[in-house]
Amino acid sequence: MTQRSSVHETYDVGPLRGRIAVTGDKSISHRALMIASAAIGTTKIYNLNRGADVAATRDAMVALGAVIHERDGVLFVEGGRLRNPPETIDARNSGTTARLLMGLVAGNGLHARFDGDASLRRRPMERIANPLRAIGAKVTTTDGHLPITITGIARPSGGTFHLPLPSAQVKSALLLAHLNATGQVRVKGDLFSRDHTERLLRRFGAMITWDGHEVVLQPSLLHATTITVPSDLSAAAFFLVAAAITPGSDLLIERVGCNPSRTGILDILRAMGADITLEREEELDGEPVADVRVRASRLRGTTIEGELVVRAIDEIPSAAVAAAFAEGTTIIRGAGDLRSKESDRLSAIAELLNFCHISVEEFSDGLRIEGGGARPGTGRARTHGDHRIAMAAAVLASVAGPITVDDGRIVDISFPGFSGLWRSVQQ
Ligand code: S3P
Repeated sequence: MTQRSSVHETYDVGPLRGRIAVTGDKSISHRALMIASAAIGTTKIYNLNRGADVAATRDAMVALGAVIHERDGVLFVEGGRLRNPPETIDARNSGTTARLLMGLVAGNGLHARFDGDASLRRRPMERIANPLRAIGAKVTTTDGHLPITITGIARPSGGTFHLPLPSAQVKSALLLAHLNATGQVRVKGDLFSRDHTERLLRRFGAMITWDGHEVVLQPSLLHATTITVPSDLSAAAFFLVAAAITPGSDLLIERVGCNPSRTGILDILRAMGADITLEREEELDGEPVADVRVRASRLRGTTIEGELVVRAIDEIPSAAVAAAFAEGTTIIRGAGDLRSKESDRLSAIAELLNFCHISVEEFSDGLRIEGGGARPGTGRARTHGDHRIAMAAAVLASVAGPITVDDGRIVDISFPGFSGLWRSVQQ
């Protein structure tokens, strides 16, 4: 049982059993709203993520000229009439909102000012600002951070760009900056970062190819379509890891997005010896989905590095909790960018594991976690205002003992209803 108070939330011990559906995919939801707003006609979107980050994108798209209605849970987005927003775009806590929309504004002849909450104001933005300057936009940052003002150019010429790091956000910003380009754009230097922008652009009619390292987009007209957003593997991951580590668990999560650029967590869990099966695999509006079933088993430590980090970038908090209950040592390397997510996730994870007396060594770009030896912590675990750290605490609690987090509401950023759903499957 989990108890709810106004801010603190207590997660309890116990296996997860049953069959559930989780929230719609956050990354795909942001992009569906953005691309639908740029496309000509009315796009229907089913199963949009209902978290606060996607709400920030929805409000921003209305400010940028989209007309959005909702009927019976389906969104209707009338696009094709982008305009300057009357006020500053407030991306709130959402890096994806700020970074992708900076690209859209910069390449579509728009003028906008962007801002966000205290956490987003701390996150690095030059990785987006620099490539956008290279296409001819005027971008003024505040010491490399928000607030940022952009005066875009109407018809970028295209060309070849090299990603400063394998980031789906930078890649997507560059692609959205070239929706109106006169020539082909080529983006190099990727390492299998999520390809939802590419898949959606193709679904909206764009001529686009990619291979995990390089994307090529030809000048194309985008037309409205229908999108059913798969359930979010990053949201499902907390349930999957808890089921993998908590004896007596047997959980099935329905219609989860299993795009190979996102399934790093499944590969990590399998390498640790987890019992995972995919059922009813199919393609849903251009994205692979499946029912994912996990039964508890004994896990062993592993190494997480390179492309696997990129393909599991948002699942490192839950993977670290799995490592805490695995036999032996787990090493995570090449994950330095986690220090500039919603929190410094490497140190927030280390602190969370330490809270339950698990031995963790922190490197500049990773962690070394010794499995075994977890004991209940006392007091409250700190989430650092980071939704994924709060949900990782629930996973940790399922084996290590009840954990009260300092801010249970933060999960609403990506997964409203998380705590209730958790309670409903925990025995
Ligand atoms: C995202 C890309 C990732 C991820 C973020 C969402 C996206 O960031 O961490 O939560 O939707 O494009 P980076 O592209 O900066 O790695």
